[in-house]
Amino acid sequence: MSHADSAKFQLASDAGQTPEKPRAAVGVGSGDWLAGLSSRSLYYRDEWCAIYHADCREVLDEMKCHLVMTDPPYGIHGGRGSMSTNRGRGNYTSDFDDTPEYIRDVVADVIRRCVAKWPTVVTPGNTNMMRYPQPDSFGCYYQPAAVGLQTWGNLDAQPILYYGKNPTKRNFGTPCSYTLTETPEKNGHPCVKPLGAWKRLMASVSVEGMTVLDPFMGSGTTLQAARELGRYAIGIELSEEYCEIAAKRQQQRMMSFG
Ligand SMILES: C[S@@+](CC[C@H](N)C(=O)[O-])C[C@H]1O[C@@H](n2cnc3c(N)ncnc32)[C@H](O)[C@@H]1O
Repeated sequence: MSHADSAKFQLASDAGQTPEKPRAAVGVGSGDWLAGLSSRSLYYRDEWCAIYHADCREVLDEMKCHLVMTDPPYGIHGGRGSMSTNRGRGNYTSDFDDTPEYIRDVVADVIRRCVAKWPTVVTPGNTNMMRYPQPDSFGCYYQPAAVGLQTWGNLDAQPILYYGKNPTKRNFGTPCSYTLTETPEKNGHPCVKPLGAWKRLMASVSVEGMTVLDPFMGSGTTLQAARELGRYAIGIELSEEYCEIAAKRQQQRMMSFG
């Protein structure tokens, strides 16, 4: 069932709440930012975000944004971490094969299409990062407490690939790497990005009022981060189950507005 036209669809303003307004209206993020967006495959929307239940390959060309920020599948069968094991990790319930071939043939191609249109930031995971187009810049999440193992030692960093130019036009003094000590929330998705870490990255590559697109949305951490930072966001996700988790996260956030 789509939330887009359902009774559950509700603007924060309808609930008598005061949504955080971005201070600066910037380009496509300003005014009625949803007006130009496609309604095809729209699953949920509110004042700050839109969720598309779709294969991102099919709807990408209809999207408008200032930048792409995404944490795609890692090509390691739903697991996170090292070559050692997927022990304790749930696999995706979505209908795709999380294999190196999928990264090479599908994910890298989507990223190539994004890069052709927008500044793009990707966390590709370690194992298959070489299957991506060459980035213009790179950084990492350094995880001092990581216990994953690779052939030369602990797997204690996750790459961040940057394409194009930082849309904030601030590169001096902006870090490209971050220390990651936070554990992600448990929300039913097998590999949720830690919200605080994702917010720090988003804050360094965007400004208030911008629209951030995540073509591999998962449980919607990008949308959550965007809302909390005064950015608009669009997420695309193959799995209806994950769209539902993401929509519920957004609704819970709206309900807890102070
Ligand atoms: C690593 S997860 C993203 C997790 C997210 N960062 C979070 O915090 O919840 C990648 C997601 O991409 C989705 N996915 C895979 N192929 C896709 C496609 N072609 N179009 C849209 N989503 C896709 C998977 O279902 C999975 O939920």
